[in-house]
Amino acid sequence: MTDTDLIPAPLTARTGGDAPGRPSLDERTTLDAGPGTEATARWLRSVLGAATGLPLADGAGPHAVRLRISPETAREHGPEGYRLSTEDPEAAVTIDGGGPAGLFWGAQTLRQLLGPDAFRRAPVRPGAEWDLPRVTVADRPRFGWRGLLLDVSRHFTAKEDVLRLLDLMAAHKLNVLHLHLTDDQGWRIEIERYPRLTGVGAWRSRSKQGHRASPLWDDTPHGGFYTRDDIREIVAYAAERHVTVVPEIDLPGHSQAAIAAYPWLGNADVVDTAALTVWDTWGVNPNVLAPTEEVLRFYEGVLEEVLELFPSTFVHVGGDECPKDQWKESPAAQARIAELGVGDEDGLQSWFIRHFDRWLADRGRRLIGWDEILEGGLAEGAAVSSWRGYRGGIAAAEAGHDVVMCPEQQVYLDHRQDGGPDEPVPIGFVRTLSDVYRFEPVPPGLSEAAARHVLGTQANVWTEVMENRDRVDYQVFPRLAAFAEVAWSALPAPGDRDTEGFLRRMETHYRRLDALGVAYRPPAGPTPGQRRPGLLGRPIDGPPPIV
Ligand code: ACM
Repeated sequence: MTDTDLIPAPLTARTGGDAPGRPSLDERTTLDAGPGTEATARWLRSVLGAATGLPLADGAGPHAVRLRISPETAREHGPEGYRLSTEDPEAAVTIDGGGPAGLFWGAQTLRQLLGPDAFRRAPVRPGAEWDLPRVTVADRPRFGWRGLLLDVSRHFTAKEDVLRLLDLMAAHKLNVLHLHLTDDQGWRIEIERYPRLTGVGAWRSRSKQGHRASPLWDDTPHGGFYTRDDIREIVAYAAERHVTVVPEIDLPGHSQAAIAAYPWLGNADVVDTAALTVWDTWGVNPNVLAPTEEVLRFYEGVLEEVLELFPSTFVHVGGDECPKDQWKESPAAQARIAELGVGDEDGLQSWFIRHFDRWLADRGRRLIGWDEILEGGLAEGAAVSSWRGYRGGIAAAEAGHDVVMCPEQQVYLDHRQDGGPDEPVPIGFVRTLSDVYRFEPVPPGLSEAAARHVLGTQANVWTEVMENRDRVDYQVFPRLAAFAEVAWSALPAPGDRDTEGFLRRMETHYRRLDALGVAYRPPAGPTPGQRRPGLLGRPIDGPPPIV
């Protein structure tokens, strides 16, 4: 790269010769939107129109930004690929998308090429020139699944902030938002037929502050949920940005909020489920679903409403961290094991997952779950989010299942980004910006056939220690920029990556994030306002095992 400092780095960027003059946008600039490019034209007009104050009227000609869907670009770079040039004589800027998504990613590149002020919502320098480098970019993503998980259960994220995060994802060419909608600490999606899920399950009376070992509590009640229209809005806003929203309804573990709302969902023969409340602290919770037909019917009802709202092919059903103690103690669960002939408690977990795998497949969808769903046998067609390391993902991919690689040792963004004493609520492994840049989603040793089952990769943002938007910003940025490059760009093997070059490009990217108002972790460490004195983290773990 020369003066373009694009993040994520494109496949190729050839900067042009020294023809006189410099391409630029000005009062004469028009938008020449070909068939199928109208949505990106709308986006460009609203975003660049706001930042530049330029009218960007419709029209063709030498001053136009020319947008086309190009079969040739599709052949060469696929539907998410694009070619952008400021060197074509017939327009100021030409963007050819392999499809509508590729065109949109090209428009994101144009915004970066215009400089950090193009990320503002109003012009800060009236009369400024919007110069562009003389460049031809050809680009396409390495992976089709470039994801971010947001846990809206542990701390609720207001709808406005989800929409903002979608904009930030799109600016980094990420295309899957995995919404973790349910957990022990809160149920966050309105389900019409079960109003207590949000009436009761969306609220808790207090929250643990910091890591679960902390003695501190926040006694402010916490909660919130998305109405059906909120979800429709989020899904539509994401779709306009070529982001798919994958909903997660976690079962059979991580279910205490649901059980607090409807106690018969739990193992009432071994625990007084009517006395359970939405959980107020963190960790793995013993209160799991009862393995009954009624519970299956209940979750079918939940998922019917989820399918109405989310067009995503994949639907995530969790499957992680389901302690089996209550099933071991429960005469009813033991009778079910015998009746179903599933052998043991692991068999019950598989029974749950296989049921919803078939149920989703019958409705033209596909199940995805955490790598624990491998235990006791993986249902055919199911896909795996490999979080406990590479191992689950490798086993699943070698067995012919699709995989999203999101190992906690590498891409859990709740984990601290530095070993220093000022790091706020320093949980987990130290994963610096450079560490994330060296993450490799396809582990060495995977067979070629299995590697084709790696759909992509995902960074996970669990929000136990992130109680507001600034805390989420701090944990997610700048590391999401490194992650985006890992997911999008054709990087060499980790040992050969140009980390220095990436960090140099980040100097420009920090100015984009500044313009966007992102409260990222500065390279020199947290500002005084970002420190969290008195909040307990965990002592530093050793270097992360690569498993
Ligand atoms: C997980 O982190 N329990 C998926």
